[in-house]
This record gives sequence, structure tokens and C-alpha cells, in this order.
Amino acid sequence: MPRMLVTGGAGFIGSHAAEHFASRGYDVTVLDNLSRGRLLRKADPNAEFNWTYLRSIPRVRCIRGDIREREVITPLAAEADVIVHAAAQTAVTTSTVDPSTDFETNALGTFRVLEAARQGGRTPTVIYCSTNKVYGENVNSVGVAEEAQRYRFVEEWSHGIPESFSIDRCEHTPYGCSKLTGDLYVQDFGHLYGLRTGVFRMSCIYGTRQFGMEDQGWVAWFVIAALTGRPLTIFGDGKQVRDLLWVEDLVGAWEAFLESDARVEVFNMGGGPEYTLSLLELLERIEAETGIGVTPARADWRPSDQKVYISDIRRARERLGWAPAVSPSQGVARLIAWAQEHQACFQER
Ligand SMILES: NC(=O)c1ccc[n+]([C@@H]2O[C@H](COP(=O)([O-])OP(=O)(O)OC[C@H]3O[C@@H](n4cnc5c(N)ncnc54)[C@H](O)[C@@H]3O)[C@@H](O)[C@H]2O)c1
Repeated sequence: MPRMLVTGGAGFIGSHAAEHFASRGYDVTVLDNLSRGRLLRKADPNAEFNWTYLRSIPRVRCIRGDIREREVITPLAAEADVIVHAAAQTAVTTSTVDPSTDFETNALGTFRVLEAARQGGRTPTVIYCSTNKVYGENVNSVGVAEEAQRYRFVEEWSHGIPESFSIDRCEHTPYGCSKLTGDLYVQDFGHLYGLRTGVFRMSCIYGTRQFGMEDQGWVAWFVIAALTGRPLTIFGDGKQVRDLLWVEDLVGAWEAFLESDARVEVFNMGGGPEYTLSLLELLERIEAETGIGVTPARADWRPSDQKVYISDIRRARERLGWAPAVSPSQGVARLIAWAQEHQACFQER
């Protein structure tokens, strides 16, 4: 049986990867130090919930440990055929307050995973969870038009942001820098050391088992705040638009990558132009599904906030024969149903 290592596997995306590939016959090892709450400086039921959930799945082995520690990562990477590297400090806001931890987790942590993969002698395939934040403030140079409930890219950019978009000469935030560092190292280890590598620059991934907070995971956070009556703040005017990708569609793209002949690749990954929502539109969807109307507080735009981000997913479509299947209206309804069922998890601690 092929063996897979999922770093950050107790997190939202990692746990879905672990579950999916175990169901496909992989022997999956999840490595996680359960630090999400500590990193985001908030009480976080995520790790505990996903940890317990994963332990009930056949073919999944859970190991608590840190990707930065050589003695932990080296033996695990050496036995893996595929490494899904999802572990990270994930919030832009935290990265500006504590850039050292952000760098150590995302840049150094990724380097440690790659070195362990290289030295393990098995030349595993590495799938890297990169981010649209690698394009930094350059995205704000794309023209946007304003409509009643949303912004949209001007016609020239109607397909979204492609992989060839510039990463240079702009601000990024520490998170953008640390993730880009990992992104470039993953590509280079592919070119130089013969690892098969897939860099997936993801925009907004959402789904079940996502414990969103104000700082990270906004779709789940809006749903949780609405259901629990917690105060919700919109930074900016709420017309910001993102392309939304249901987490199982993301994992489907990784599977398509593994089954393809692609070797060293970069893909922009999101719902693309057809699957987008603005913040205001998400609130409308939540109200339509639950009957709960939320009146958010308003605050100023945050540093590096993008009015629109939409991934150009044509490369993934062409190279992987992949397309997203779950629309935002279907996905948001599924997320709400899951959150309603697990409402007890979201009570303040
Ligand atoms: N969720 C999104 O929309 C999105 C978008 C773009 C990129 N990403 C990237 O996808 C990946 C997964 O994101 P997520 O939303 O599942 O986040 P998450 O916070 O739910 O998962 C990250 C996991 O990594 C673990 N972790 C952190 N530092 C670690 C360390 N040093 N050693 C071991 N484990 C560690 C955490 O405990 C957590 O369980 C991250 O790399 C993130 O940057 C996510």
C-alpha cells in the first residue's frame, strides 16, 4: 500500500486529505503538534475535534510532533511515498504580530520537511499548501468595478489571477513571505533533487471540520458567529469577493495531480470565476438557509486586504483534467448543516 504523510493533519485541510486518501487505500500518518489555538492566540476546539475524529478512521495513524524537529520529521518522511505538507501558521494577522514564529513554522518548517524528504532516499511526491498571498499587494493593481453587493475584476482579468502573475516589487505581509519561501523551496527541490512536487496556491478553501475564526477561515467563521450569536465585524465595506473552493474539491485536485504525469508544478487553486461570493452575499446566504440575520459591526480595511481575489484555474483544468464541482450555495448549505449538528463544539471556553 502507498504511504502518505500529512503534516498539519489535525487541521482543517489536512484532516480532509487524511480521510480521503485513507479511503483510497493509502496508509496515512498524520503529524501535528496541535498548535493552531496557540498560534492564533484563541481557544480552539479544532485540534481536539479532528484528532478524535481521525483516530476513528481505519488506516490513519496520528502522531503528535513538530515538523521543525529533525528527529521527528526525518523518519516519517523517509517512509512516505507522498507528503501532503499542510502544517503552518495560517493567519496573516498573527504573522504581523509574531513574524518569528510565522517564519520558523512556515519557512523553516517547510525546509525541514523538504530536507527530510530529500535525505530519506525514497524521493516522495510533495504536495504543498501554498496561498494566493504569494502575489501580495500586486493583486490590488488589477482594476475592479463596484456593484451593489460586490466588487469584480475588470474584463481583462475575468479569468482571475494566473500562476504567471508577478510576485515581485510589492508588500506581502510576513505570512505571504514565509509561505512564498516554502513555495519556492518546494519548486526548487523538485527541479534540483528530483522530487515530484505540486505547489497549490490556494485562495479560499471552506468545508466541514473548519473551525474558522475572525483571523482565518472567514466562511466558517461567519457561519459559526451567526449560529452562536457572536459579534461579527466586517473590515471594509463587505463587497470583497473571493472564489470559494469546497475542501473535497481541493483534495480531488491533489488526487488528480498524483494520477497525472505532472512532475514539478504550480497551480492556482480556488473555485475560479464561477464560484465566488462577497462577504455581504455570504451573509445573505446564511440568512436564507438559517433564518438568522446578522448585522455586522464595521471596521476599517486591514493591511493588504484585497478587494477581489479570484484564481485562474484554467491551468489545473487543462493539466489535471480537474474542475470544482461544489458551488458556493451547495457548499455553504453543507457547512451550515455540519455546524448546526456540531454547535456544542463552538461554545466559548
Ligand atoms: N484554509 C484556507 O483557506 C487556506 C488558504 C490558503 C492556504 N492555506 C494553507 O493550507 C494549509 C492548511 O490550512 P488549514 O486551513 O487547514 O489550517 P489549520 O490551522 O486548520 O491547520 C494547520 C495545522 O498545522 C498544525 N501545525 C502548525 N504548526 C505546526 C508544526 N510546527 N508542526 C506540526 N503541526 C503544526 C496546526 O496544529 C494545525 O492543526 C496551511 O499551510 C495554510 O497556509 C489554507
